[in-house]
Amino acid sequence: MKKTLLYIFTISLLTACGAKLAVLTQADADRGAQKFPGLTLNDLAEGQILYKTNCSQCHPLKNPTSRDEVQWRKVVPKMAAKAERKANKKKIDGVTQEKILKYLITASTASASK
Ligand code: HEC
Repeated sequence: MKKTLLYIFTISLLTACGAKLAVLTQADADRGAQKFPGLTLNDLAEGQILYKTNCSQCHPLKNPTSRDEVQWRKVVPKMAAKAERKANKKKIDGVTQEKILKYLITASTASASK
């Protein structure tokens, strides 16, 4: 129990810098599913975690609303290529990029998050 609390506290500290990512709701999943048929809230949550773990390796996380779909589709492969070139960074494979993209594109159109 204590350990869990410590863990949550540490995570909130770790995520304190950089963009504060909006909590995902079913409304996000519904909106995302219009673009990506079959997309679930679980898929989005997984994409958000992958975004946090992969995309904070070199710089603070950017706010998903700071770019639109066209821009994210260019940025993500470009960043994956950067990670590929750095021996000390975790690689971002194609499947992971796709999951991150679905999250970013869906979150980029969230009206509530700033
Ligand atoms: C290997 C290190 C590294 C990783 C991993 C990385 N980035 Fe970057 N990122 C950079 C560097 C260096 C820059 C600044 C130079 C540039 O713009 O190319 C940058 C710039 C950016 C920019 C601003 C530039 C633009 O073209 O809009 C965005 C947005 C961005 N990163 C998003 C991401 C996302 C999303 C991920 C995860 C898929 C990611 N980064 C992972 C190194 C990285």
